[in-house]
Amino acid sequence: MRKNIVAGNWKMNKTLQEGIALAKELNEMLANEKPNCDVIICTPFIHLASVTPLVDPAKIGVGAENCADKESGAYTGEVSAAMVASTGAKYVILGHSERRAYYHETVEILEEKVKLALAHGLTPIFCIGEVLEEREANKQNEVVAAQLASVFSLSAEDFSKIILAYEPVWAIGTGKTATPEQAQEIHAFIRSTVAGKYGQEVADNCSILYGGSCKPSNAKELFAKPDVDGGLIGGAALKAADFKGIIDAFNN
Ligand code: 13P
Repeated sequence: MRKNIVAGNWKMNKTLQEGIALAKELNEMLANEKPNCDVIICTPFIHLASVTPLVDPAKIGVGAENCADKESGAYTGEVSAAMVASTGAKYVILGHSERRAYYHETVEILEEKVKLALAHGLTPIFCIGEVLEEREANKQNEVVAAQLASVFSLSAEDFSKIILAYEPVWAIGTGKTATPEQAQEIHAFIRSTVAGKYGQEVADNCSILYGGSCKPSNAKELFAKPDVDGGLIGGAALKAADFKGIIDAFNN
């Protein structure tokens, strides 16, 4: 069956020293615990090589927040999937709405990124989600279905390796969370869309995380929904106690 997962997305926050301190703090907090979910922290590129050896790999997986859509070569400033993997990181967030909106990442670019990530043994955490106007026009299902096109060219075997994250853009960093009912409704739609493409078994095994103003006070209600398999956490991942509070939503 599918895994429950709590993943942090640090975004463009924390100096190297601050990031190391946060990773250590979280590692210590989890040292004597058995979380009922997989825990992942996705950090800026420069943190990866320092943070990966600091955390207990049995408790905390480490990931990047992006990778290049090219294998290697003259792409100044880019970081390849192979480079990410060489730090010991195991995951990579792809298709985050901030990357789509500010860096113009298209369905085609993301398809390349997902394929390269998989080719280098990374697990993509692939994000989809609508903006407010699309939600208000009741177009959210259409939008997420179109965004899934980047991963629907994968074989069933490769698709089975990825994690999906539904992040309504209107809920990201706004303090406005989707209600558990809204999250459940669209997660169920996403799962049925996956089932339509790859079959029910693949869909049932696919972890679909919710992201958008998720915090210790609302995580439990969201994660209680049958098609919400955990969270992708922004702001609340920047404080070990808050992140741990969200992980604990699976414990009681
Ligand atoms: P917030 O939790 O800060 O709303 O961010 C969510 C997010 O974008 C995670 O990728």
